[in-house]
Amino acid sequence: MRKTQKLLFESGRPGRRGVSLPALDVSARPLEELLPQAFRRQLPLGLPELSEPEVVRHYTALSTRNHGVDSGFYPLGSCTMKYNPKVNEEAAALPGFALVHPCQEDETVQGILELLYEAEQYLKEITGMDRITFQPVAGAHGELTGLMMIQAYHRWHGQNRDKVLVPDSAHGTNPATAAMAGFEVIQVPSDQRGLVDLAALKEALGPDTAALMLTNPNTLGLFEEDILEIAAAVHAAGGLLYYDGANLNAVMGYARPGDMGFDVVHLNLHKTFATPHGGGGPGSGTVGVKEKLAPFLPLPLVERGEAGFYLDHDRPQSIGRVHSFHGNFGVVVKAYTYLRMMGADGLKQASADAVLNANYLMHRLKPIFHLPYDRVCKHEFVLSAREQKKMGAGAGDIAKALLDFGFHPPTVYFPLVVTEALMVEPTETESRETLDSFAEAMAEIARLVREDPERVKEAPHTTVVGRLDEARAVRQLRVRWSKEEA
Ligand SMILES: Cc1ncc(COP(=O)(O)O)c(C=O)c1O
Repeated sequence: MRKTQKLLFESGRPGRRGVSLPALDVSARPLEELLPQAFRRQLPLGLPELSEPEVVRHYTALSTRNHGVDSGFYPLGSCTMKYNPKVNEEAAALPGFALVHPCQEDETVQGILELLYEAEQYLKEITGMDRITFQPVAGAHGELTGLMMIQAYHRWHGQNRDKVLVPDSAHGTNPATAAMAGFEVIQVPSDQRGLVDLAALKEALGPDTAALMLTNPNTLGLFEEDILEIAAAVHAAGGLLYYDGANLNAVMGYARPGDMGFDVVHLNLHKTFATPHGGGGPGSGTVGVKEKLAPFLPLPLVERGEAGFYLDHDRPQSIGRVHSFHGNFGVVVKAYTYLRMMGADGLKQASADAVLNANYLMHRLKPIFHLPYDRVCKHEFVLSAREQKKMGAGAGDIAKALLDFGFHPPTVYFPLVVTEALMVEPTETESRETLDSFAEAMAEIARLVREDPERVKEAPHTTVVGRLDEARAVRQLRVRWSKEEA
């Protein structure tokens, strides 16, 4: 039987306390003097009142209801849900990092500025870019920052380029960001290999092309092998190349976006560089650019002068700020710790392991599920549940059934170029035994679909909540509890 969990508001009782303070034994100034009546709240705050153990038990119970990377395998394609070493957390929590104030004078935060400066040097080396900003706080935010710089660049050169080309396999944030930045989005089809259709791309390029947004390897997990020709064609048309670096964990130390011809790249530090993420953050959509775009970077940037590190605000062509201070600085500390711990060889190994794990799992699963693009993949691969759908249970049902086996499902119904898509990214941090047990669970579900599709359609059976009405959850989102409506 599924057990429901009361909200703190429901289990609280008036007058219950989590702390007991000694009685006041100093003479305080009269309340009226401290806070005049006019500034005092008229109604009670309405917060739940509970004892300390009640609060601890509540949150401990809630924490066990989530599936996280720390509790099990999480092959959520495109999201790189790899294990994050705990030492990263320890570093970010050091008082010297956690307790500084962002408004302190540069001389008093030399260590912080040095870390930002050094992290920039490492990421420049890894991406082949010339300058880096840490201000954007998510991948999509990095995309917006990058496109704003591309816009500023074209305007500076007196050009009115208002179209951004996006392949049909792109992550949804790419076209959404381009539209939000004010561009018209032109979709470029994939060819039979699952790669950008070169002829269609060339056809779409023109004097109004501002940029092509691309992720390489793409969202099918396939390396865009024509990338040099693609880059040459976009540049010849006067456009720029934007690299969605969310998939960088597939190629670290092997290929650099800068060498492929990209002008701007965003990195998801919260994926590739082992920072926990999910549930909306906090993240870092760090952006790197080639020299020609550096003047447009958000300000300030960290520079090294004779007297030490300092923040350079004197950047007249900058697009301005895209976030306060240095974005999510704690995330950069975690990424920096990871970079230092892994070193260049370790990062290469991580990419090699990510690719090996994906290919191993792909080979184990392709006899069971249709594999539309049957080629060596990089860090992820996309299966299709089209045959299972014909038997009565599709990708979404299979995803739900996986929960009963203790696994987080793969990404489903994305990329859109694959019907009934199941996008699997095992990541580099999983053992062969874990991959084997996942493959066995998938085989068992496929058997169930053949024999009893209705049971799969009713899954999950063992979780605290069953099937949610996802459409209603989006249309009638209720995130606030009220006594009257309860
Ligand atoms: C390929 C790709 N691009 C962009 C993003 C957007 O990143 P974020 O979720 O940090 O905004 C994602 C996120 O999953 C992604 O997988």
